[in-house]
Order: sequence, then structure tokens, then C-alpha cells
Amino acid sequence: MRITELRKKIGKTDLYIEDLKIESGLVHGLVGPNGCGKTTLLKLIMGIVQPDSGSVDYEGLSMTDMTMMSQRPYLMHTSVYDNIIYPLKIRGEKIDRDEVEALMERVGLLDLKDQYAGSLSSGERQKLSFIRAIVFRPKMVLMDETLSNLDAESEALFREIIMERHREDGSTWLIVSHQWDEMNDLFDKVHHMEKGRIVK
Ligand SMILES: Nc1ncnc2c1ncn2[C@@H]1O[C@H](COP(=O)(O)OP(=O)(O)O)[C@@H](O)[C@H]1O
Ligand SMILES: [Mg+2]
Repeated sequence: MRITELRKKIGKTDLYIEDLKIESGLVHGLVGPNGCGKTTLLKLIMGIVQPDSGSVDYEGLSMTDMTMMSQRPYLMHTSVYDNIIYPLKIRGEKIDRDEVEALMERVGLLDLKDQYAGSLSSGERQKLSFIRAIVFRPKMVLMDETLSNLDAESEALFREIIMERHREDGSTWLIVSHQWDEMNDLFDKVHHMEKGRIVK
């Protein structure tokens, strides 16, 4: 994926990404202080926000190959299980119940399978949102500070699953974090952002 001369004015911030290459098959970090435009950049990539000018070359990747886990996950007013299989349903893919349940089991959501998703704790919501994002084996995953609010054990588990999927599928990851020291070993490449610009 290549982002060229992408501009978006948001509030006081003038986001301008002159030239950013997100090589496929790598785990990328996007780090920078609060308010520098990280979330806005992810939304521009996903087409949730329209740029004022400039472009994103998806290099053959289609929107259905991609997924974004937002900081505050949106849950549908259904059960935990129905939330998780939703991406498979809308893509018309076969639902392998055993595989889905094995993933749920791994993050500790299986016991909550039939529970109303809206009743989950914030950590459980993050887990649901993570499993829902990866259940259809996306080619590209954008994660917005999803790891930042997890306890150490869950964070370690998420990292393990990320690396596993990355190895198995050769998927591309763009992971937003404000604590880049801890994520250091996860990233193949790190892009630093400040005041709406990629600085290195
Ligand atoms: N819809 C919006 N309207 C006005 N300002 C916005 C809007 N969305 C984001 N901003 C502002 O744009 C800046 C960048 O926001 P954001 O991309 O969320 O930063 P980050 O994710 O790096 O913390 C912030 O100053 C934020 O307040
Ligand atoms: Mg943000």
C-alpha cells in the first residue's frame, strides 16, 4: 500500500502524509503522541474518512480484505458469538464453528458465547473485537491502540496470535501504539508521527 500526498484538515490539525509505503507482509508500528493524527490516518486508509486531496494506492487489496479494530469497539446488539461470526456472514464465507469456538476459547470468550455483547467488560470487548477482526483471515489488519488497555497476560496472548497469523497468512499489520518501547519486538518497521506528519 502506498499513500501519496494525502491531506486532511481536522480541527486544528493539518494531516499531510507526503509519501508512506506500507509494505505488505510486514508488521508495522505507527507511533506518536496523542492527537497527532494516528486514528485519522487509519480511518483515511479504511475509507471511513474522506481526504481533502491525495490518494491511497491499495495495490490490489480490496476493502473486504481489510479490517480495522478501533479503540472503542462497536458491538452489535446481539450475542458474543453472533458478533464474532458477522464478518464471515457478510462475506458469504463458510462458518467453521469448531474453528471459531477454538479461537473464542483461546481468549476466554467461549463461556460468554451466548451472552449479550453489550454486557461485556471493556477487556472482554477488546477480546471480542480482536477475534471478530481476525476470524475471516484478513490480508491487512489495522489496530488502533487495542493492546494499550489490556492486562499483561491478554496483551501477551494477543501478540502471540498476531505473530501466528502473520506467519500463517503473511498478513500485513498496522498497529497504532503510544508505547512503542513495549511493542518494539513486534514491529518489523516503525513509522513515527507528529503533528499530522510522518517524521521518520
Ligand atoms: N471529527 C473531528 N472534528 C474535529 N477535530 C477532530 C476530529 N477528529 C479528530 N480531531 C482532532 O484531530 C486531531 C487528531 O486526532 P486523532 O487522529 O484522533 O489523533 P490520535 O489518534 O493520534 O490521538 C486531534 O487534535 C483531534 O482532536
Ligand atoms: Mg487515536
